[in-house]
Amino acid sequence: MVPEKIEKALNEQITHEGQSSQFYLAMASWADVQGYNGIAQFLFRHSDEERIHMLKLLTFINDRGGFAIVPALKQPPLEFKNIHDIFEQVLKHEILVSTEINKLVELCLQEKDYTTHTFLQWYVNEQIEEEKMASKILDKLKLIGEDKGGLYIFDRDMGAMRT
Ligand code: FEO
Repeated sequence: MVPEKIEKALNEQITHEGQSSQFYLAMASWADVQGYNGIAQFLFRHSDEERIHMLKLLTFINDRGGFAIVPALKQPPLEFKNIHDIFEQVLKHEILVSTEINKLVELCLQEKDYTTHTFLQWYVNEQIEEEKMASKILDKLKLIGEDKGGLYIFDRDMGAMRT
């Protein structure tokens, strides 16, 4: 059985993952209408991935005898300054999510819930990958700077990039 305190915290994490999915979906839609179709495809996939993160939590809570709550989600921002701004926000957001995951891990240790602790290791590793990916993309964008040709190739490559 999942302890009540942990169940509540896992349900809060469901909201964070769902919110992340909405956030990236809004970025994808913005990029799509600006003509950055490759970047949009990447962000659509990233949004789907966040939904999978949410569903994994949902299944875990229910399988452990709790009740997973499907949360109401806030309207994400709809406008972005540019592509650089988008990936700055992705990195900032992923760092926030990592902080939330770390708090959850800490709570599991306090409550001696080693089952959930083990389950959360997947998220700990995922966060390392997600922060690394956002930071590498930002490095590339810094190299490109204001070069429109560079951005064109970047957009094309992002369409084929795995999230
Ligand atoms: Fe599921 Fe990107 O955190």
